[in-house]
Amino acid sequence: MAGETPVEALTRQQASAELARLSKAIAAADKAYHQLDAPEISDAEYDALKRRNAAIESRFPDLKRADSPSENVGAAPAEGFSKVRHRVRMLSLANAFENEEITEFDARVRRYLGLAEDAPLTYTAEPKIDGLSLSLRFEDGRLVQAATRGNGETGENVTANARTIADIPDRLTGAPAVLEVRGEVYMGHDDFETLNARQAESGDKTFANPRNAAAGSLRQLDPRITENRPLRFFAYGWGELSEPLATTQLGAINRLAELGFPTNPLTTRCDGPDEMVMHYRMIEERRATLDYDIDGVVYKVDDLALQARLGFRSTTPRWAIAHKFPAELAWTRLEKIEIQVGRTGALSPVARLHPVTVGGVVVSNATLHNEDYISGRDAKGNAIRDGKDIREGDWVQVYRAGDVIPKVADVDLSKRPKDAKPFAFPRICPECGSDAIREEGDAVRRCTGGLICPAQAVEKLKHFVSRAAFDIEGLGAKQVEQFYRDGWIREPADIFTLQERFGRGMQQLKNREGWGEKSAKNLFEAIEEKRQIPLDRLIFALGIRHVGESAADLLARFYVSWDRFFHAMSSATVGEGPEWARLTAIDGVGPVMATSLVTTFHQPAERASIERLVRYLTVEDAVPRGAVDSPLAGKTVVFTGSLEKMTRAEAKARAEALGARVSGSVSARTDLVVAGPGAGSKARQAEKLGIEMIDEDGWLNLVGDA
Ligand code: IVH
Repeated sequence: MAGETPVEALTRQQASAELARLSKAIAAADKAYHQLDAPEISDAEYDALKRRNAAIESRFPDLKRADSPSENVGAAPAEGFSKVRHRVRMLSLANAFENEEITEFDARVRRYLGLAEDAPLTYTAEPKIDGLSLSLRFEDGRLVQAATRGNGETGENVTANARTIADIPDRLTGAPAVLEVRGEVYMGHDDFETLNARQAESGDKTFANPRNAAAGSLRQLDPRITENRPLRFFAYGWGELSEPLATTQLGAINRLAELGFPTNPLTTRCDGPDEMVMHYRMIEERRATLDYDIDGVVYKVDDLALQARLGFRSTTPRWAIAHKFPAELAWTRLEKIEIQVGRTGALSPVARLHPVTVGGVVVSNATLHNEDYISGRDAKGNAIRDGKDIREGDWVQVYRAGDVIPKVADVDLSKRPKDAKPFAFPRICPECGSDAIREEGDAVRRCTGGLICPAQAVEKLKHFVSRAAFDIEGLGAKQVEQFYRDGWIREPADIFTLQERFGRGMQQLKNREGWGEKSAKNLFEAIEEKRQIPLDRLIFALGIRHVGESAADLLARFYVSWDRFFHAMSSATVGEGPEWARLTAIDGVGPVMATSLVTTFHQPAERASIERLVRYLTVEDAVPRGAVDSPLAGKTVVFTGSLEKMTRAEAKARAEALGARVSGSVSARTDLVVAGPGAGSKARQAEKLGIEMIDEDGWLNLVGDA
């Protein structure tokens, strides 16, 4: 625009005033366009306003406004990507940091497979690329779909964008009829620098690191933008296949290379943990010379038949592990300690830092864990960091490992300001004024305000709408905060009465800044869509302490329906009785989680809030994974005697994967007993009760492994 001061020449004051002006102008243009259908400025003028806004925000990030137009999702014209359900889930990897963990991994694999310590067992080792995973589906040799990982079950359809990546072939010859290739999209260092320079020049957003740049470039709604971004790809795995690629991991990777996919040249075979760690060191030494970011080494069992036997835990394969590089460190000033209140009432101290670059990422916040961590002594009086406490104004070491939240690791007492005072951890909740107490044995101080504490209520709601929970499009953390502040949504059930309460006209919502007719309509449709919800998502969404995504999945698969789950939690008593015994017998549910579950369902306010919520929902029963056509779905199986062709752990995992429940004792509720040689009282009991009994071969026949 004519007469405009260049962004580089703006003073802070000018920048702040201009951001305010731009925010108003863009909101007015949005309103004219989306709500009144009467645009007042051209698309090019609108784009110029947005670009200038982004450029000023990029130069003065701390001046970014709460109502920044760059954050405005409510009125975004973007329809977003369509969703793709992965036919084979896209999983993540378990992490290890120490060499001993690799020895343990190998021992675990051997134990599971029943292999002796000295039996040969080969692994592959390859760099862990720091990008984002992509699944490419080829049918009859043609690329038909590309999808991001998303939550592992459902990703975003980025086919048009993937087609613009030169590393990804469009046509294959000699490939299986159905071939899903999985790998990592990344950006090289040089390309990243060039892109950032180009972005800065045109006043567009620059990226903090190559990973963010790769993600931002792939997830563009306009594939023409992706086309101009230098994205690259390494193939390291596969999803659905109409025929096997090879019999080993390395064989399969070589086959993918023959088909035309780039594969990582530092991939090799290793005979056991010693060689694996040697290869890790070699890759670590080469790390600085590589043109792309890597954050560790991935080891995989090479034999694909063994991989199949090992299978998966809820979110990670048993046959692979990521050996991460050590964390990156930097020193900076701790400006302030703030207390955040989480959804379970935990008071979490957060360090506000003078911004510092740690391993390519600018860090300005880090966790301080809890009050003991700040004071330098745990509840038993043991020293933490040799007893050094942490104070506002201190010079502190920040530590960042992969995607985890940065931590304050150490403090330099020689640089402590003279007037620095020990930090006084609050005894009352800074959000609601209720007492904040620490239970015996708990390192965390918690607000006792429960649902009356606004911070807990908002955090619970944010968790409720988060991606792995209800994942309501258009209702993110920012909108939840806004709606809570206005009293529109106070608890999850309120989300489902929003439209009813505000009427179809949606006048109030439409008139809100950032909301237009279309976005309001989209929001109500998105809410409507989520009235039907799978049981595991609902359990996770409730935000019960200690119940994460994989625990929710275990519980859903065990109880199958909401009614059974609700009834079981309501009738269980902590520490005793059959319902408690059943709950704690679930592999992966310990007494701490079980106590948290049972107390939640016995707490009158929590329980009432849950009951109000489910009234608006249709909860889909859980189908035990892989159990759709399984003869074992919903059956209770007992293994007894010795097994010779598989280990107990393997038999149990296989049975559970097919939807069965594995029990340790035979009762009238048992459906099947698998008896190996030496079976004794359990087999007799089964006979007495007339329960079907088979031997190990019969079992292998039944599950299709024979
Ligand atoms: S194998 C079933 N190999 O790391 C597990 N993953 O932390 C499939 N990644 O989501 C993953 N390099 O995005 C595998 N050589 C490699 C990898 C790799 C990077 C990413 C991938 C995955 C994440 C897990």
